[in-house]
Amino acid sequence: MCGIVGVVGKTEIAPILVESLCRLEYRGYDSCGVATLNSVGVEVRKDVGFVQEVAYRQKFASAHGGLGIAHTRWATHGGVTRENAHPHLSCDGTFAVAHNGIISNHEILRRELRGLGHRFSSETDTEVFPHIVEEIHRSGISVEEAFVRALRRLEGSFAIAMISSRDPEKIYCARQRSPLVLGIDSGRHFFVGSDVNAFLHFTRRAVVLEDGEYAVLSRDGYFVRAIADGRTRSKPIMEINWSLGETEKAGYRHYMEKEIWEQPDVIRRAMEVSQKEIVAVARLMRAAKRNVLVGVGTTYYVSLFGQYLFAGLAGEFSPAFSSDESGELLMMDRETLLLAISQSGETFDTLQTIRQAKADGARTAAIVNVPGSSMTREAEIVIHQNSGPEICVISTKAAMAQMLLLMRMALELGYLRQHPPAMENLDLLREIMELPDLVETMLRNQQLQIRDLAHRFSNRRNWFYLGRGLYTPIALESALKMKEVTYLHAEGMAAGFLKHGTLSLIDEETPCVFLIPPKEAKDLYDLTMGSVAEVRARRGKVIAFAFESGGGKFDEEVILPKASVWLAPLLHLVAGQVLAYETALVLGRNIDRPRSLAKSVTVS
Ligand code: F6R
Repeated sequence: MCGIVGVVGKTEIAPILVESLCRLEYRGYDSCGVATLNSVGVEVRKDVGFVQEVAYRQKFASAHGGLGIAHTRWATHGGVTRENAHPHLSCDGTFAVAHNGIISNHEILRRELRGLGHRFSSETDTEVFPHIVEEIHRSGISVEEAFVRALRRLEGSFAIAMISSRDPEKIYCARQRSPLVLGIDSGRHFFVGSDVNAFLHFTRRAVVLEDGEYAVLSRDGYFVRAIADGRTRSKPIMEINWSLGETEKAGYRHYMEKEIWEQPDVIRRAMEVSQKEIVAVARLMRAAKRNVLVGVGTTYYVSLFGQYLFAGLAGEFSPAFSSDESGELLMMDRETLLLAISQSGETFDTLQTIRQAKADGARTAAIVNVPGSSMTREAEIVIHQNSGPEICVISTKAAMAQMLLLMRMALELGYLRQHPPAMENLDLLREIMELPDLVETMLRNQQLQIRDLAHRFSNRRNWFYLGRGLYTPIALESALKMKEVTYLHAEGMAAGFLKHGTLSLIDEETPCVFLIPPKEAKDLYDLTMGSVAEVRARRGKVIAFAFESGGGKFDEEVILPKASVWLAPLLHLVAGQVLAYETALVLGRNIDRPRSLAKSVTVS
């Protein structure tokens, strides 16, 4: 939700902090700030606005000091104001703190601290922390000890970074249910960040902190200890195989556009995931009595797509749940396998579902994009989708890879079970190898046409996305893309559902984007065309993403390159992404950072 970075080095670090902050901005972007340590003490600069804007106004890059912390905020506790922006200071200004997460007992702590004479200048939960450290430190103990004792007073979740003029050579940081990673650029800089994007432009060597650990960084090195008992932990260094180029826009106007166009490559990488790993999950699924798929937002729709794949290719009913609701609905036990899907690997609701599953004795597997993220460490079996960094807040390429990996698993499970559709579709793997070219062709040939649609329809307030069967989750996902990036109302739905109520909303002002299956999927095709007729009868505008012309049955048609029945929805997926992107461009929206949204929702 928020982004934290801290750097200690042998040079002036403010320019590095600013650069890192820009790279973390996708985690939150309503306000930001930096705190550096120099001969004057702790110096804080912060304000409301996007990083580049605030950094320019407040002259972040000219803040002096060889160590500092910075924060980009997405408000949870307290409005979007300068006072609520991080870093926050103690009363005497000697401790500065940046925090991500929610300190759930902050009200009690605040009352207690007020009683001791502390004054607060923000409404945030975070601000209690520097005051507690200041209070504890008064008793004459070291800053490290005060930091750790203060951590022990906190309930809830936190990733915290702190600097102090009372110990001016160090950055203190800690993690409890909010991600935090160290970056090791030996001999030059040591970093702490909410994720590896904070330091990937300097080093690919990372150390992932676990819950309940804290670290102290200085110019000469770092150590990691347990918050509970202070014992030193030895931590492996992992190499992140993302390249810096992947985090640049590389000539595209937006990360969203770049990530849409990266999909051919992302598909190839998803196909490079070893078959051994796919088989391992398929075997677990075969052994389990119940398989459950879970994700949230886009990854819920990916899971739903998986539900159709497992039903169709493997003859297996594997219900998909949205992880924000799974607490109420999911019954897990030793005979259940939970397959979680997440781009960030940090989403609170999905992570909680994995933890609950483990506590109930269930087996767990996960498809995750971000290396070293919490889910990669907490799920029993992890498939790394290896799609590279997804910077745009809106998920596009990650979802594509996840869908393909689920397709491979469904095919494998079907094969293990000798389920006829899987046996008849063994060629599917070979066909997927052709998918990158199809996606590329589609992007090259249809982008202009979709752009034209965006120009003509961007003034419509309400959109519908309709599909049947395997195409239904894609309709839901395409509507989500439209909502997120254009702020227009869009509803995705199974086309068969339409006549059970929603048809009353359809009139000549309503664009209905239909995902038409290839004709070979005869039943689905006929059913979908039936729904097209229902919409047309109410004068709704039918925009068809189809594989051949409707011969006058559609108002608008975008003809996609021919693909087999199982792969066709993935071309619809891309067409939906492009339509959302182009419409947002026409409307002048903030495409990579839509209002009110943040990537990686690490709070409940
Ligand atoms: C939509 C989007 C969100 C995420 C959701 C889960 O474009 O990005 O709906 O899909 O917050 O995030 P991950 O996949 O990181 O668990």
